[in-house]
Amino acid sequence: MKILVVGGGGREHALCWALAASPLCDELYCAPGNAGIAEEATCLEIAADDVDALVKAASDKAVDLVVVGPEAPLVAGLVDALEAAGIRAFGPSKAAAELEGSKAFAKYLCDQHGIPTAAFQRFTDPAEAKAYVASQPLPIVVKADGLAAGKGVTVCQSHAEAERAIEEALVDKRFGAAGDSVIVEECLTGQEVSAFALVDGDTALMLPCAQDHKAAYDGDTGPNTGGMGAYSPTPLVDEATAEVIQSTILQPTVDAMKAEGRPFKGLLYAGLMMTPDGPKVLEYNVRFGDPECQVLMMRLMSDLLPALLAACDGVLDSFDMRWFAETAVSVVLAARGYPGSYEKGEAIGGLEALKELDDVIAFHAGTKADGDGTVRSNGGRVLTMTALGGSIEEARQRAYTAIDQIDWPGGFCRRDIGWHALGKLTIETED
Ligand SMILES: Nc1ncnc2c1ncn2[C@@H]1O[C@H](COP(=O)(O)OP(=O)(O)O)[C@@H](O)[C@H]1O
Ligand SMILES: [Mg+2]
Repeated sequence: MKILVVGGGGREHALCWALAASPLCDELYCAPGNAGIAEEATCLEIAADDVDALVKAASDKAVDLVVVGPEAPLVAGLVDALEAAGIRAFGPSKAAAELEGSKAFAKYLCDQHGIPTAAFQRFTDPAEAKAYVASQPLPIVVKADGLAAGKGVTVCQSHAEAERAIEEALVDKRFGAAGDSVIVEECLTGQEVSAFALVDGDTALMLPCAQDHKAAYDGDTGPNTGGMGAYSPTPLVDEATAEVIQSTILQPTVDAMKAEGRPFKGLLYAGLMMTPDGPKVLEYNVRFGDPECQVLMMRLMSDLLPALLAACDGVLDSFDMRWFAETAVSVVLAARGYPGSYEKGEAIGGLEALKELDDVIAFHAGTKADGDGTVRSNGGRVLTMTALGGSIEEARQRAYTAIDQIDWPGGFCRRDIGWHALGKLTIETED
């Protein structure tokens, strides 16, 4: 088969790595890809959100399956355009991608279909939103409705802070149209877990859970990022808890989307708060997380390609996937300054030697190769060092030992990825 992966981050490198290993995969393309992906796939110079050019490339190359990594092209309708051109695509339609594209829609869906989530109200009028906030206990959460690159949510400790967050979205238009409405919601307490399912419109096939680290610096301090690290499994989710997540959240969400006339196909990612009353939905994403995808691919024992095809073809109910019981940890190496401004084009050494190592892979994110083969930084998140080990300690040690072999003075990483789990590794870690 000929496969095209859309995107160029660590997530897409992990997907390409897994797909390239499939005996069913004859030719692998990636648009736009990166220096690491170029070792697995033929990279096409097409931006991940250039819907017309992607459809044309897929049809010119007679691609059998397109796998869409990032959310922007999904929300823009890439899968609809591909299917209209007769090309099979893994990912939700534009209507189904609203689950991520609009937090208001996600809240409506949970509300209508009894899926546990924080109590909330939606507002377009700043005065009404502020009046509501004044009547609510603290802390309180204000969220811009649309895609805001991880910057649209404020957990507010004071009413004044909440009023500012409301003004920034509704009056100052800090998020553009993504902030035309806001959700004001109850602040939940607990630890956060990322739950995943492959979905074919009817069936949610649950994958192992993961935990991620969004803050830039150690101790969960500093600005919010796209993600600085992840690990799977998490001691927070034993088999019984996984069953609760599957039966109260993942499958009900798939049923609800079908009932709403927006059947969901692709990868469903539920961001959950493990509250004293059970898991509740914080948000949905409609694609693999980055770097959560890297830890999942590292743990995947089965062939990824037939699983994605089963989701596209509506036959997940008779499908099963196998996972290594080991723990995978992914640590992001980012350019100093990220998520603010940073340098690009710096040479990154030490990558060749890592290829010899077992159980660790340097999945590339923002990298670009020179004519002479030198790998250079080309984005904020640059490498996602992903390791498998018999315990979280062992996986961490492998990931950090590999990171210490990278020669790139301009990079930084968190040193505490997995620390949430380390204090509580008394539970058997089989998902
Ligand atoms: N209701 C809530 N209660 C407590 N914390 C929340 C709540 N909603 C969001 N958060 C926090 O804000 C983060 C970002 O919110 P989320 O809804 O995941 O938006 P996004 O990922 O689009 O920025 C969450 O990971 C969580 O830490
Ligand atoms: Mg989130």
